[in-house]
Amino acid sequence: MTRTIGYIVGSISSTSINRRLSRVLENLAPEGTELVEIPIKDLPFYSADYDGDFPQVAIDFKQAISDADGVIIITPEYSRSIPGVLKNALDWSTRPYGEMSFFNKPVAVIGASGSGVATAAAQQHLRAILGHFNAITMGQPEGFIQDRPGLFTDEGQVTDDSTAGFLAGYLEAFNSLISRTQHASELVNA
Ligand SMILES: Cc1cc2nc3c(=O)[nH]c(=O)nc-3n(C[C@H](O)[C@H](O)[C@H](O)COP(=O)(O)O)c2cc1C
Repeated sequence: MTRTIGYIVGSISSTSINRRLSRVLENLAPEGTELVEIPIKDLPFYSADYDGDFPQVAIDFKQAISDADGVIIITPEYSRSIPGVLKNALDWSTRPYGEMSFFNKPVAVIGASGSGVATAAAQQHLRAILGHFNAITMGQPEGFIQDRPGLFTDEGQVTDDSTAGFLAGYLEAFNSLISRTQHASELVNA
């Protein structure tokens, strides 16, 4: 059976380097896994006014997280934190009250930036939010990708062998975390 790893891109830019990174990760998916996008761009700004009448797009968003064996969040850094569009999506994932989509969900974080600090500050903020969600967040390897022109092609290839090797290892590590989490869950429920 194919394992489904969902991914969220924390940028809605048409020229996003993080979207290019997501295509690379799709192409490097470990055997037996498939990476599938969980889109966020059509989610309205969350308001408690929606709680009584949840929009279909938010129902679908939450269902996609539930259906995934694990979720990778691929995000840029904005103003030393995560972009507002990603925070909005994460807020939707916590509602209706008591139905946190990321509860006990394996999650990995990674991001690309042209800057030397390569999304480290954003990922620290994201890890704090995921801790509150009780997500099972992969600690290592950390995914700080410094972009440079030509590193990723539009077709989702990496032009540098060491980056390709790192990303393949990153995905293997996350796949292994999902396996261990599912195994532990089976033991508890046996
Ligand atoms: C509003 C805004 C704030 C930004 N803040 C940061 C930042 O704090 N750290 C950083 O490394 N890059 C920052 N950048 C640069 C982004 O890393 C760069 O625009 C990157 O291409 C965004 O990712 P994307 O191409 O996937 O949308 C910022 C960009 C914008 C538009």
